[in-house]
Amino acid sequence: MIIAFTYNVRHIYPDPNDLKSHKEADFDDPVTITSMIKHLKSAGYKVLPIEADEKAYLKLYKYRKKIDLVFNYSLGLNGRDRYCHIPAMCEMLEIPYTGSSPLTQATTMNKGRAKEILQANNVPTLPFQIFTSQDDKLKSTIDFPLIVKPVAQGSSAGITNKSVVNNREELDRQVAFILKTFNEPALVEPFLDGREFSVPMLGNPPKILPIIESDHSVLPKEYLPIDSLEVKWHFEETHEKNNLICPAKIDEQLKQKIERICYQTWEAQKIQDSCRIDIRCDSSGNPYVLEINSPAGMIPPDISKTSYFPFSAGVAGLSYEELLKEIISIAFKRYN
Ligand SMILES: Nc1ncnc2c1ncn2[C@@H]1O[C@H](COP(=O)(O)OP(=O)(O)O)[C@@H](O)[C@H]1O
Ligand SMILES: [Mg+2]
Repeated sequence: MIIAFTYNVRHIYPDPNDLKSHKEADFDDPVTITSMIKHLKSAGYKVLPIEADEKAYLKLYKYRKKIDLVFNYSLGLNGRDRYCHIPAMCEMLEIPYTGSSPLTQATTMNKGRAKEILQANNVPTLPFQIFTSQDDKLKSTIDFPLIVKPVAQGSSAGITNKSVVNNREELDRQVAFILKTFNEPALVEPFLDGREFSVPMLGNPPKILPIIESDHSVLPKEYLPIDSLEVKWHFEETHEKNNLICPAKIDEQLKQKIERICYQTWEAQKIQDSCRIDIRCDSSGNPYVLEINSPAGMIPPDISKTSYFPFSAGVAGLSYEELLKEIISIAFKRYN
């Protein structure tokens, strides 16, 4: 069986002080890509690696008759809706692929659109405002403290200690930073300081894998209680997941609430095969959907022990290769 593996690779390691590195934070390190290809091969597949750059279409077109399935791990290179590029090419060429459709990919990567879809389906998510200029007036429905994020990035790109803002001056500064660094609008929403969970989902219909809690209480004082670029790519990597608890210790009532809103999110967004949903609670313990990760990061355990999805799958008893095989087999079933 020939699997085309589509991916994007970064050239600079994420550094909160290096603007260029924020733009690539969403991509994967070369060693991660090499290792994923190695694991796909040892899972028994013939692998055709295709970087999701400008030439990706030419390669997909050339090999379209030979490729059995595209394992889509790509995030896309250019444009604001880049996550949908490879799925759209696959549809055009009638090549089966893993993961969600172009529409779902575009409307999950754009956190504003994702939240509108959730709101329309009565899934709890925070009120928000999109800033296209730092002069935009703040709506009266949201109030400080707020968090400022790029509207369509992942992997904590653009999210640092400075992202949580307490007044108009800090808000202006952070909106300006997002507009300039990413050349895209900023999403502003209330900052919640309750517990944070991440929920991996797998299958059609999906099963929920062990929920991960990101325990901000163990972070050193200099870090705000958020999964910022610093925390995700520096603290977690050097502190061997002691801020990550899986399965999260939650009471049955909260667990059921979280699971329900994750299933509702899956339905609302018409997700396929897998995703990971980030949840944060308010101070009274009510969970809200922050965002949907599709594709979820899947860094192999030989490179990182803190990549949420494989970490949780491991807790559920699935090895990394079994996880890859499962994703491929459930995607195949959709086409048969
Ligand atoms: N509204 C919020 N309240 C509190 N923390 C938040 C909020 N939004 C984001 N965060 C923090 O920032 C992190 C990254 O934000 P997220 O929306 O998940 O973007 P990314 O796509 O970069 O993962 C979250 O894991 C969480 O710790
Ligand atoms: Mg996230």
